[in-house]
Amino acid sequence: MKFYVTTPIYYVNDVPHIGHAYTTVAADVLARHHRLLGRDVYFLTGTDEHGQKVEKSAAEAGETPIQLADRVVKRFQELWRRLDISNDDFIRTTEDRHKAFVQDLWRRVKANGYIYLDEYEDWYCVPDETYIPETQLVDGNCPHCARPVEKLKEQSYFFKLSAFEKPLLEWIRANPQAVQPATRRNEIVSFIEGGLRDLSISRTSFKWGIQVPDDPEHVIYVWFDALANYVSALGGEGTEKYKTYWPADYHFVGKDIVRFHAVYWPAFLMAAGLPPAHSVFAHGWWTVEGQKMSKSLRNAVDPNLLLDEYGVDPVRYFLLREVPFGADGDFSHKALIQRINSELANDLGNLLSRTVSMLEKYLGGTIPPAAGGGEIRALAERTWTEFREHIEAAAFSTALEKIWVLVRELNGFVDKSAPWTLAKQGETEKLGDVLYTALEGLRYCSRMIQPVMPATAEKALKALGVTETPRELQWGGLPSGAVLEKPESLFPRIDAEEKLKAVSVRSQVDLAGVGAAPAAPAAAQEPKAEKEKKPEKKGKAPVEPPAEIGFEEFGKILLKVGKVLEAERVPKSEKLLRLQVDLGEDKPRQIVAGIANHYAPEALVGKTVTVVANLKPAKLMGIESQGMILAASDEAGLHVVTPAGDVKPGSRVK
Ligand code: ME8
Ligand code: MG
Repeated sequence: MKFYVTTPIYYVNDVPHIGHAYTTVAADVLARHHRLLGRDVYFLTGTDEHGQKVEKSAAEAGETPIQLADRVVKRFQELWRRLDISNDDFIRTTEDRHKAFVQDLWRRVKANGYIYLDEYEDWYCVPDETYIPETQLVDGNCPHCARPVEKLKEQSYFFKLSAFEKPLLEWIRANPQAVQPATRRNEIVSFIEGGLRDLSISRTSFKWGIQVPDDPEHVIYVWFDALANYVSALGGEGTEKYKTYWPADYHFVGKDIVRFHAVYWPAFLMAAGLPPAHSVFAHGWWTVEGQKMSKSLRNAVDPNLLLDEYGVDPVRYFLLREVPFGADGDFSHKALIQRINSELANDLGNLLSRTVSMLEKYLGGTIPPAAGGGEIRALAERTWTEFREHIEAAAFSTALEKIWVLVRELNGFVDKSAPWTLAKQGETEKLGDVLYTALEGLRYCSRMIQPVMPATAEKALKALGVTETPRELQWGGLPSGAVLEKPESLFPRIDAEEKLKAVSVRSQVDLAGVGAAPAAPAAAQEPKAEKEKKPEKKGKAPVEPPAEIGFEEFGKILLKVGKVLEAERVPKSEKLLRLQVDLGEDKPRQIVAGIANHYAPEALVGKTVTVVANLKPAKLMGIESQGMILAASDEAGLHVVTPAGDVKPGSRVK
């Protein structure tokens, strides 16, 4: 049996945040689960590197698009390594293998009569890389992200999407699992029933993309390009890999891009005579501490910070346990610490350490002969079956909940059976049965957490004397006669107050240099359901803009024009640059700015910038910063504020 699972390929104009980590961890868990059961798994992730958005971001950072892509792709790959992501392949849309297949797909679709040339004029949202019909604009802005749109008029190739209304509806009706969960399927069905317009699938307004075969003036629409990754990574149609793995079993995506995966992609495939994927599963949307996550708000939690502070397994566990796959969720440090302390440290970690300790104390550490197990055995066996069903249906949270029902039952069973009393009374046989049952139950738990927390599972199994990770579970697998030692703690408890202080300090450093206060959520990024008009109104209270101030108060801020003389990365920091800025004073000022994700150091040297010159000096990563560079931010990233003319360094800005 084969199993092919994919994540979206992420845009390289943004750095990875927990939203990206979420989808990728979920796909990883499913891939690991199937591998453990001996199935032939292919797990694909990658990056989406073409398009106007990437071209723009690169220009602003003073880089070529491929330089930007090469720099950011490393951040994704490094994060996946740290998150224990076991992908079999990583596809970049700038690779030749990908480009070749995209052009091949184009030719096939064209040969089948589904591509034609025409003229196109409409509103376009660059951050979303999508055209918006005028009737769908909300206050003149993009209905999905509320950002301004541009009018584009160009010659364009069109895909006959309108021809696929019926085939798509038939496909979804015949395959109830095709689009999941049900709410998303209903949305997609009504979207298709509302009528499909032909889709513009080429651009002449920019260059950064794959050329249309035989018409080099046009580049292929970035979504036609990107979606093809799921097949290009297999080497295209006809290869052994394609024959083995296609159609994909699951495309995991966020609900923001379900339409692209459940309407456009299957239609492209059908037009080329290829079968669509077995299932598109759209999960929900994360906010952070009650707020929408977006680059411009700069509150997108860096998963690297979470890994440093909490370790990889607790983060993986939290992401999948906290909310049902498909529902929206909120990330907060408090909620994460709460789950670590209660479910991981208290329930599971403590069960293991106290049970093994009792075995050591009362039976010299030797695992007794197998016990019947009674109700515990029945529960363990049922849990194993249910766990597999839920996890294979991508119901990660429920699958984990099932394991923890067993963990809690085991704790209760140990309490109730009171091994300490049995030991005192010399009831050695009964004592042996109790401890065997508890430890064998723990072996079940350890096996089941394996795909979610691989390192922890390995540690726990080792502590139970199990040398090889079991694939199947059968009662009695715990090695009687093995001698166990007191294990190190699986999950140290976290002092919530101290941890919250520590992460708050770290987040401040991460935001340093560009104004730590989050901006108003003008560029909110949450995808919105069809009917809601204002994304800002959904969810938690928006951030208030600062209150009105008098001229006098404004006058307290000394703003000056500066010229950047030197710029370099701060070692060991991903975000900080150390700048030497000429402010017309005796010597240049040293300023530490949190803009390394947006500007290559070379791109800043020689730039004229605006500096808050009377900000109290502060130390960032041990380096004194004597001012702050002003920058504006939007979805495309950060942009330092530069005077319109050629202004002398030191000039005051008022
Ligand atoms: O859309 N909550 O790339 P992208 C949950 N390149 N998931 C989130 C999230 C959040 N707040 N933010 C992002 C693209 N995600 C295209 C995809 S595929 C052929 C091309 C996750 O970098 C979620 O999986 O904007 C979402 O669909 C994806 O990141 C979007 O990543
Ligand atoms: Mg996006």
